Amino acid sequence: MSSDSDIQMTSRGFFCSLCNTNLPNKPSVDQHVKGRKHQTLSTVRATRKTQEEHSVFVSGIKPEISQSDVTEYFQQFGAVTDVIMDKDKGVYAIVQFGETESLQAVLSCVEHKMKGLKLRVKPREKKAFKLIPKKKNDRQNLQQALDRLTPELCQLPSVDAQIKYIVERFQLGENEKKARSLLVQLLQEVFVEFFPDSQILPFGSSVNTFGIHSCDLDLFLDLENTKVFQSQARSSMEQAGEGVSDDGRSEDSILSDIDLSTASPAEVLDLVATILTRCVPSVHKVHVVSTARLPVAKFHHRELNLQGDMTLNNRLGVRNTRFLQLCSGVEERLRPLVYTVRYWAKQKQLAGNPSGAGPLLNNYALTLLIIFYLQNCDPPVLPTVDQLRDMACEEEECEIEGWNCTFPSQPIAVQPSTNTQDLCSLLSGFFSFYAQFDFASSVISIREGRALPIINFLSQTKEDEMMQEEQATKTHPHGPKLGPLNLLDPFELSHNVAGNLNERALRSFQKECQEAEKYCRSLQYQRKSTKAKSWGLVRLFTPHVEVQHNKTEQLNISIPFKSTSLPEGLRDELRVAGDAFRLPWFHKVCSAVEVVLRAVLRCHVDAPPEAVFSEDAAVGAEDTETTSASVSALLNDSTESVESQKEACAAVVGAKRPLSSGSDSPVSPQGKKPRWTKRRKPELPPWTCVQKHMVWAGRRKVRRELLKGADSKPEGSCVELESQVTASIMDKEPELREPVEFKVQPLMAGGTESTKVLLKLEPSDDKAGVFHDFFHFLEVFLPKMVETVLQSEGGCA
Ligand code: UTP
Repeated sequence: MSSDSDIQMTSRGFFCSLCNTNLPNKPSVDQHVKGRKHQTLSTVRATRKTQEEHSVFVSGIKPEISQSDVTEYFQQFGAVTDVIMDKDKGVYAIVQFGETESLQAVLSCVEHKMKGLKLRVKPREKKAFKLIPKKKNDRQNLQQALDRLTPELCQLPSVDAQIKYIVERFQLGENEKKARSLLVQLLQEVFVEFFPDSQILPFGSSVNTFGIHSCDLDLFLDLENTKVFQSQARSSMEQAGEGVSDDGRSEDSILSDIDLSTASPAEVLDLVATILTRCVPSVHKVHVVSTARLPVAKFHHRELNLQGDMTLNNRLGVRNTRFLQLCSGVEERLRPLVYTVRYWAKQKQLAGNPSGAGPLLNNYALTLLIIFYLQNCDPPVLPTVDQLRDMACEEEECEIEGWNCTFPSQPIAVQPSTNTQDLCSLLSGFFSFYAQFDFASSVISIREGRALPIINFLSQTKEDEMMQEEQATKTHPHGPKLGPLNLLDPFELSHNVAGNLNERALRSFQKECQEAEKYCRSLQYQRKSTKAKSWGLVRLFTPHVEVQHNKTEQLNISIPFKSTSLPEGLRDELRVAGDAFRLPWFHKVCSAVEVVLRAVLRCHVDAPPEAVFSEDAAVGAEDTETTSASVSALLNDSTESVESQKEACAAVVGAKRPLSSGSDSPVSPQGKKPRWTKRRKPELPPWTCVQKHMVWAGRRKVRRELLKGADSKPEGSCVELESQVTASIMDKEPELREPVEFKVQPLMAGGTESTKVLLKLEPSDDKAGVFHDFFHFLEVFLPKMVETVLQSEGGCA
């Protein structure tokens, strides 16, 4: 299926022309060729080739001819396996036969006549199979876009003028807005036929004053009134004992197929998708994403070249859109700042998840970050949501799903800010603010306009939780899903709008803010160049550069403290330890890492001997190098007495307990007691590890084979399965000619509220040149697996 001609040698290694992939060395070529992408593409290519060899191209068809007409006609030449019709214009078809002989028969026929039409039949064109790379926001495209913008930006007199120009250049034009609103009207007319009294309400960037030319059209299909209509119609039909409702709607209307009061969103959305596909002109590519937080029917409008999303139950989305409109009306500097920061974030690839899901910021979250910054300027540029609530009058009171969504309906009700900073300084202030922001220990509250300590969200005792449950309304008993960046929705306070962000995305965001902050201090930012050089926003918008790994690069794997993913038992133990929870947790994670490396991945791990893990050492530590990683600092931070912490800690860890005791980890070396280093830093001496097999390559396939038929399990979710995957790879694949040797140094990092275990990895012998592949695998696999190991141990000390 796959052929060697796909792989070519290049000056930097190898290149696979089938998959468009560069490969550094021979082992990675072997691995790549066996990998899923290459195998899938080889299969697709082979299938296409067979299809080409078995099918003909038929033209001269008229739109009224159906697929079955075509099948029926061509069946006289042999079994027809597939007919693909040109859906839009209906003028051609591709007819595929089961046997090549049928192809010869059809081509040798001099004249083809079907339903009075003269058909032209040709062999299929033989096209070389080529992977069309997905359109990416890659650096080149971004740079080209910036190159087009640069001349205009550079000739403007000030950064403020440049910022305003960004709005003019990207904002939705009047015609675009009109086209969108006509489409909403059309959809409304269609949907009301099927869902009487329903309403379609646009929200998001099309209407929130921050829309750009290509932005999506977010729609909320409000079926509340339809539900009322349906229940009334049903009861009147029951009373009349008829199949026809009062207003004459027949029982077999679309509404009679579904009971809106009990149907799931996915069921309703399937119906919505059918209506969109069948009844709205120019709408195509309709599909339902039911796994999203808010399930959505996605569609594309061909003429307007517009992507649309239709959701149900999104009253909050409509309300927060009103809130953004209000903020824009209250403070005219908000819009230019939002457009500029959004463009910057796009250029730096920090925001925008193309398929809706992904680890980057979404535009809504980015906008809220700007609002939060403006609430924290001195004097504030925008009021807090709580302040806005107090400015509203009685008629403006609004509650949705139990959340208070009250704010004034008109900007005039809000006192203007006394802050007089210009756009140039507000923009640089945004970067400084987030360059230094302590994301790890904060939950950002737009409602209160301040950062709330994350510990409030972590350290709730059981009683607190019970009390909270009693007090909370039944609709939202849960707290937000905590992650690296915690940004509460202004109204739905249990929703972290940046909950999808991963550590890496947050690191990039903060790093880019730091870079931007530095640049904004330079003259090049503030002053127009007299030598026609790029200045102001231009350099700020230079696309993000992917940093290649090199020898001096830090290869760290971070395992953050996530209380929600710990087993109940361990959570209870850590609660007992109070503020000193970090030590026992560190101990647990290190043991779990060892289990993963040794038992799951079959690495040889040499942990240093004679070390003692002692809470005394930590408590009494004088090492106040004020690294946030310092355990002594952690304990000194605490309001509890050292003695009580020692007791609590001892209760969990046990005095002078070896880090990797036999009971915790069945694979720990007997009698070896790793410990803190002499300087009593919360880190362990490095372990030396040796890996002799490429246990990271092809795991997914092996896992699938092992599970054959059984329910699939996500990677890293089962210790036994992952150990079997490794064993199977080791059985089938030969050992590496040169084993990979590397060091792993576990250390504790982060402040009290942002605790994480950092594993510093460093290759010491990598003649096979595969360490980086292994590292990238571990980066994802280890944190997930550690979580699983901790859970399987049930958290018992
Ligand atoms: P987007 O993130 O798509 O923002 O969320 P946007 O302003 O429309 O930007 P584009 O579409 O990327 O240009 C769309 C809307 O969805 C709601 C908000 O109303 C937002 O304006 N939303 C989004 C939420 O309510 N919560 C979320 O977590 C995300």
